[in-house]
Amino acid sequence: MSTNDVAAFARALPKVELHVHLVGSASVPTVLALAARHGAATVPSDPAELAEYYRFRDFAHFVDIYQTVNALVTGPADVTDLVVGLARDAAAGGVRYAEVTVTPMSHVHVGMDPAAVADALLEGRERAAAEFGIELGWIFDTAGELGVENAWDTLDWVLKHRPEGTVGYGLAGPEIGIGRALFTRPFTVAREAGLHSLPHAGETTGPATVWSALTDLGAERIGHGIHSVTDPRLLDHLAEHRIPLEVCPTSNVRTGAVPSMAAHPLPRLLQWGVPVTLNTDDPGMFDCDIAGEYLVAHEAFGLTPAELAQIARTGVDAAFCSAELKRTLHAEIDALALPEI
Ligand code: HPA
Ligand code: ZN
Repeated sequence: MSTNDVAAFARALPKVELHVHLVGSASVPTVLALAARHGAATVPSDPAELAEYYRFRDFAHFVDIYQTVNALVTGPADVTDLVVGLARDAAAGGVRYAEVTVTPMSHVHVGMDPAAVADALLEGRERAAAEFGIELGWIFDTAGELGVENAWDTLDWVLKHRPEGTVGYGLAGPEIGIGRALFTRPFTVAREAGLHSLPHAGETTGPATVWSALTDLGAERIGHGIHSVTDPRLLDHLAEHRIPLEVCPTSNVRTGAVPSMAAHPLPRLLQWGVPVTLNTDDPGMFDCDIAGEYLVAHEAFGLTPAELAQIARTGVDAAFCSAELKRTLHAEIDALALPEI
C-alpha cells in the first residue's frame, strides 16, 4: 500500500471536524485579501513572508499572531468570507460536518454590530451548505486571558442571537495561570441554557486542567486534552465515560505544545481506549488540512486504514449533529473500501 493510496483514502473518508477556529482557518490568500481590503500593514503582504510569520516560537507567540490576524476581521463580509473559505477547504478534505469555533466578542470589540456578526455567520452557513454540501455547527468561545467578564459577555451574545446551528460554549487561549474553575458560573448558566460544554484543556498544561474542565465546567469533550496522558486515572475516566478528546497533532507541534510529532501522545491515548478525534485547530496558520491529519496518523504512528476509519467513526459519535446525519455518515464510512495493506 503506497502513501498515495492512504492519502486518497484519508481524503475520501467521510469525516467530521470538531475543533477548528474560524479566524485560524484563514488561509494565506485569505489573510492577504483581508489585509489588502482594509489597507492593513500589520501582517506581511508577501505570501512567503506570511508563511514565515506563521512560524511560532511557542504558544504565547502563536496567541500574539492569532490576535493580529483577528484584528484584520473588521466587517460582516469578512466574517462571511472566512466561513465560506473554511467550508470550501474542509469540504475539499472530505469533511461533511464541522463544528466551528467562533469568538464573537473579538468581532464586537473591533466595532462590529453584534447582530451583524450573527447574520454574517448565518449567511456563511447557508453558502457552505449550498456551495460545498457541508453542514456547520457553531461553538462560541471566550478567550481565557480576557477573564470572566468576557465569558459573560460572550454568553449574553449567544443567548441573545443563538444563530441556527449553535451547539456549544467554549473556552480557549492560554491555560497557564488561567484555571478553568474561574469560568464555572458562566459554564453552568450556558449548560442550563442547553449549550454543550466544550472547553480547551490539557493543551499547554497538565491533567489537573482537564480534571477541572470535567468537574467544574461539565466538559462533554475536551479541546486537545493531550496532556491527560500522564494521569492513568484520568485516562481511565475518559475511556470509561466516553469523553472524546479533540486531538490536533500538527497544531501541537507547531505551537510547541509537544516537542515533536514522534513525542505526540496520540498512540498512547488510543491504546488506552480514550475516544480520540482528529482535527486541524487553525488550518490556515498551521498549513494543514483534515485529510492530512489522518495521513499524519498513518505516517507518524502507523495507524492502518481500518484504524483511521475507526477515528472517523469516533468523530461522528462525538459530534452534535442530527442522528440522521450520523447514520448517513456511519453508513458511508462502513461502505468505503479499505486500501489493501
Ligand atoms: N488553543 C488555545 N487558543 C486558541 C487555539 C487553541 O488551540 N486556537 C486558537 N486559539
Ligand atoms: Zn483550539
